[in-house]
Amino acid sequence: MTDKFTTTNAGAPVASDQHSLTIGNDGPTSLTDHYLVEKLAQFNRERVPERVVHAKGGGAYGTFTTTNPEIAKYTRAALFQPGVETEMLARFSTVAGESGSPDTWRDPRGFALKFYTTEGNYDLVGNNTPTFFIKDGIKFPDFIRSQKRLPGSHLRDNDMQWDFWSLQPESAHQVTWLMGERGIPNSWREMNGYGSHTYQWMNAEGERFWVKYHFISQQGVHGMSNEKAAELAGSDADVHIRDLYTHIEDGDFPRWDLKVQIMPYEDAKTYRFNPFDLTKIWPHADYPLVDVGVMELNRNPANYFAEIEQATFAPSNFVPGIGTSPDKMLMARIFSYADAHRYRVGTNHADLPVNQPKNADAHGHSYSKDGAMRYSFSAPETPVYAPNSLGGAHADADRAGETGNWEADGAMVRAAATLHPEDDDFGQAGTLYRDVFTDAQKAAFLETITGHVGAVKSDEIRERAIQYWTHVDADLGASLRANLAPIPA
Ligand code: HEM
Repeated sequence: MTDKFTTTNAGAPVASDQHSLTIGNDGPTSLTDHYLVEKLAQFNRERVPERVVHAKGGGAYGTFTTTNPEIAKYTRAALFQPGVETEMLARFSTVAGESGSPDTWRDPRGFALKFYTTEGNYDLVGNNTPTFFIKDGIKFPDFIRSQKRLPGSHLRDNDMQWDFWSLQPESAHQVTWLMGERGIPNSWREMNGYGSHTYQWMNAEGERFWVKYHFISQQGVHGMSNEKAAELAGSDADVHIRDLYTHIEDGDFPRWDLKVQIMPYEDAKTYRFNPFDLTKIWPHADYPLVDVGVMELNRNPANYFAEIEQATFAPSNFVPGIGTSPDKMLMARIFSYADAHRYRVGTNHADLPVNQPKNADAHGHSYSKDGAMRYSFSAPETPVYAPNSLGGAHADADRAGETGNWEADGAMVRAAATLHPEDDDFGQAGTLYRDVFTDAQKAAFLETITGHVGAVKSDEIRERAIQYWTHVDADLGASLRANLAPIPA
């Protein structure tokens, strides 16, 4: 038997973990059993709200090493300087499922990264797809509700999903990804990650570039069949968490090669696609992949709740040399995540060990103070306001341009972003289906959309969904119509 005794949260020894304090063996429980009260009350508060999206996930720590010295020509970011190795954390997730939902439901997968750089934490909060369903953040709550549950029955509903998608044809490219082989990855190790948005990089001379991030899995990219996914959803709902955890435990560390597409700043104005439209990719023939470095995941968290559930990844966490772009989705996300973190984890979420900028010289340099659960604080003589003449930290005006900027002018409007010559909703979706998918992938794709659209109850929505795929590819639409003909409405 151990010589350690149970204590209360305040550290005092506890007499029993088995019996509550009662008036006689069969009598009522005494309210003075403060240990019982503490135990039950703490239990009631063990959860924080799950993430409103991406609630089910898992993650691990690792390192990112910059291997290509040429990258410093494009960004002055500390983590991308030659040979630099940076500690990092990754969290993978599904999007629409709740925290206990199966890992194998068809959904994009989150690919959230936190780099603990010497100039602050850099978060890259991406997915396993290079595009997204919508191109303006104002649509995000509606889109997500259409993918989650009906308000009355609390059931997920294909009518809602196809109603939304078919009314938002800009979704076609991403839905083509989703219904294809990559819509159910075999494991998190066997999928690529994408920053998805276009970001801005700035080099030491202040020269600007537009970039897209691609994390290419060294394990290869492998999907899972609908049948296997359905079976695992019942027999091993946590299969992806288990896969990552056990591979790392066994010393078989997954790795990804980071490559970027780099667009010179001025090209954006005349490129054939709007380069800030998140529903589009940049064809590699236009902007080839350039090597940056290698990410390796090599350490499991010691505590899931403290290090993964409470991890907060925010697209607003930029570092010098990396910044935002005119992508309306990215700009909405820049507001949304830090707000979610204040609500979900608390005002001082950045004080938690997993979220602290632990490798930056940042302690005591922020004028953010107090608030619930404040843990770290500065020496009492440190001034609490800026500017001050008492030797406190001061902002550095020379760094104004280091986190993204571009020229903007015009009246305030609610309008779509400027269309570039080849922008349309269906073109890139059609190219993906016709030119990238193999014949076997095309057949599986048709089977998947037949099942998915076939589960739509409304004739009108089903017809709109058939039209949607007909716009992507006329033959595909005709095959879908033929497949669905025998299904009664
Ligand atoms: C999680 C909002 C688009 C990837 C979240 C969360 C919110 C959110 C509120 C929960 C954050 C938390 O509680 O910690 C939005 C909004 C979007 C948007 C408003 C559109 C304007 C996207 C896009 C991507 C993405 C385009 C990928 C390219 C993720 C990932 C997570 C997440 C990976 C989980 C992060 C984690 O593991 O903690 N999103 N999102 N989201 N989102 Fe988005």
